[in-house]
Amino acid sequence: MPSAKSLKVSRTIVLIGLMGAGKSCIGRRLATLLGLNFVDADNEIERAAGCTIEEIFERHGETAFRDGERRVIKRLLGQAVQVLATGGGSFMDPGTRAAIREQAVSVWLRADLNLLLKRTGRRNNRPLLKRGDPRAILKHLMAERYPVYAEADIVVDSADGPPEVTVERMHAAVESYLAGPAGAGAAVPDARPANAHPEGDAGR
Ligand code: S3P
Repeated sequence: MPSAKSLKVSRTIVLIGLMGAGKSCIGRRLATLLGLNFVDADNEIERAAGCTIEEIFERHGETAFRDGERRVIKRLLGQAVQVLATGGGSFMDPGTRAAIREQAVSVWLRADLNLLLKRTGRRNNRPLLKRGDPRAILKHLMAERYPVYAEADIVVDSADGPPEVTVERMHAAVESYLAGPAGAGAAVPDARPANAHPEGDAGR
């Protein structure tokens, strides 16, 4: 694989995917590899609001959260090229999705249900997962969101193991995409065009 330095990144790289897919962890490492700044939209929303996402949901509701999320992501997309990890619901918002499509390269970090459950189980800070049985909720969100996430420019499968494996996959996929004539890029292992059929629990 060519070195990170050979990759000219001309647009912000936006990571999308469900809660627990590893967007922040992988995004941070990808940014380091590419020599870019990393920013996490959820952190920026909390900073702008002066409270946690849970508190925003509690005090103002999900609609207000989505409005703030859209504003923050649009602002971040207007900054210098960087790697941006977004919250799992952001790409479902038509306005946010259009802004990402227009100004960035989107990468869906896809994960199966068991991996999402394992990862989200480590922390108890996601309001949507407190509304009932996390497995059922995540399964429902996968059915609802994965067809929309599939509109991303690139899809990369999140590996259940050391983050380096997924980071390498993502780096190769981004490089391939950026090198391609129309941004389509060549196929690389475990990183396929976003319209490929979801694997594992993704399709159930
Ligand atoms: C949400 C995902 C969360 C956060 C909020 C809502 C969602 O971000 O934005 O709790 O709708 O999927 P992560 O995907 O980073 O956990």
